[in-house]
Amino acid sequence: MDWKDQINLEKLPRHIAVIMDGNGRWAKQHGKPRVFGHRNGVKAVRETTEAAAELGVDFLTLYAFSTENWNRPRIEVNALMTLLVETLRNELDTLNKNNIRLRAIGDVSQLPSRTHKALVEGIENTQNNTRMTLILALNYSAKWEIVEASRRLAQKVAQGQLEVTQIDESVFADALSTAGVPDPELLIRSSGETRLSNFLLWQLAYAEFHFTPIFWPEFRKEHLYKAIVDYQNRERRFGKISEQI
Ligand code: IPE
Ligand code: IPE
Ligand code: MG
Repeated sequence: MDWKDQINLEKLPRHIAVIMDGNGRWAKQHGKPRVFGHRNGVKAVRETTEAAAELGVDFLTLYAFSTENWNRPRIEVNALMTLLVETLRNELDTLNKNNIRLRAIGDVSQLPSRTHKALVEGIENTQNNTRMTLILALNYSAKWEIVEASRRLAQKVAQGQLEVTQIDESVFADALSTAGVPDPELLIRSSGETRLSNFLLWQLAYAEFHFTPIFWPEFRKEHLYKAIVDYQNRERRFGKISEQI
């Protein structure tokens, strides 16, 4: 039986987060430069986005570039920024055709201006779409995001707009860049690595993790379906015991 047939559509995660990893190793396997892997990763992005939207997932967050990724060789960083511009421009029609809204999290103001411009255009051009929200994590760092949120709240307190006692989990969550977005129930990481690499530390507090050895350029709809089936077979206890579920 196909993985897709095993999915219970009544119990879909509302929000899936993906750490797209393994482009470089995939390229190396093929005797090609790392950038070849990044280019081939675009198809996996397309497939994953399409599959999630078709199923009825509300939010899909893709980790595309971390603040730590600036430390890579400049040639790779430049190629990634150019690829982002191209991809954002090329995929815009498909996003609109599929009624998908684009959003971004991360310190996007620090991106090269042409990348930032393409991103803003993508966000503005899709803002009325309602079927699914695709969130790109770009120049993203969870620690940065948490510090930013703390600063924002501290400033409000200093300006007398907020009482210290009013700060609770909900107020804090609303100060994060994912304000208004439900926490991901499922996190997927490709390439066999089993770490978070500074991704959504707050939001993933109770997510189910699915790790697959597949390198990102080979990730297809089937792999997403399999991850969802894996997620649906977990018992999410949230601190309770099995008999209470
Ligand atoms: C993920 O693939 C893409 C980005 C981080 C931009 P990698 O480039 O990290 O590939 P590996 O992990 O080196 O194989
Ligand atoms: C995490 O992958 C960031 C993205 C997928 C964008 P990395 O490949 O950069 O993570 P590490 O360095 O292996 O932790
Ligand atoms: Mg990697």
